[in-house]
Order: sequence, then structure tokens, then C-alpha cells
Amino acid sequence: MTPIELVNLAIAAREHAYVPYSGFGVGAALLTKGGKVYQGCNIENAAYGPTNCAERTAFFTAVYEGERDFEAIAVVGGKMGQPISELCAPCGVCRQVIREFCNDDFKIYLSKGDNTFEEISLTHLLPFSFSKADLDK
Ligand code: THU
Repeated sequence: MTPIELVNLAIAAREHAYVPYSGFGVGAALLTKGGKVYQGCNIENAAYGPTNCAERTAFFTAVYEGERDFEAIAVVGGKMGQPISELCAPCGVCRQVIREFCNDDFKIYLSKGDNTFEEISLTHLLPFSFSKADLDK
């Protein structure tokens, strides 16, 4: 699975987005260390707060299926009905959810949907983070 193949699965996942309020669709494709891919989209809600981001949809589906070891995630986003043209970085809540299961070897691919991608680390997105290791101190 190349990064661009994972990005393309995120682009496909975005088509499932339920976004009647923002019109902003996000797709994610999460690759496990065992080579399986779990896709996710954002799912909005009339009460706004219950909205689930694409990254968390992918993570929670994978974790429900027993997965715990993750290699990489690709994320794309943009207004539905328009071509993806900007990078879409994971929100703060999703960064913390990623931190629950991943360390700095986890790769985060962001793409403008133009067959290129940027790779960023979790430490870059969430420096000086709080995780389960802190609870054991
Ligand atoms: N969104 C995601 O799905 N992932 C992110 O990391 C950023 C934001 C969604 C939530 C909401 O449905 C829409 O994008 C606009 O904020």
C-alpha cells in the first residue's frame, strides 16, 4: 500500500460524508500494521456537537474490530461538489484520539487530491501530549 493508494482510499471515503450543515466533506483511510485499511467519513448532526470526524470514524471502526496497531492514516477534505484543493489537517480532538493508539512512528498523509501528499508526524501535530503513559507515573 503506497501513500498515494491510501490517499485515494481517503478520497473515496469522503464520498460517504454526511455533511448537511457544513458541506465540508472529509475522508480518512487508516492502515493497520497488518495491512488492513479502515475508511471513515465525517458524520454531522443537527445538534453540531455530536458530529464525528472522518479520522475518528476510521479509528473507532478499526478498534471495534480488534485492531490496535496502526501504520498510517491519509486524510483529505474540502467542500463537497468542488475538487479538493487544500490540505485538511486533523482537528485537536482527532489528534488526541490518534495519540491514544499511536506513537511517533505513525505516519499522517495529507493531500490536496492532486497525486501528491505531505507526511507529518503526530509529535508535530500534538507536541508535549498527554497519553496513557502519564497515568502510570
Ligand atoms: N472534520 C473532520 O472530519 N476531520 C477533521 O479533522 C476536521 C474537521 C469535519 C467536521 C465537520 O463535519 C466538518 O469537517 C467541518 O468542520
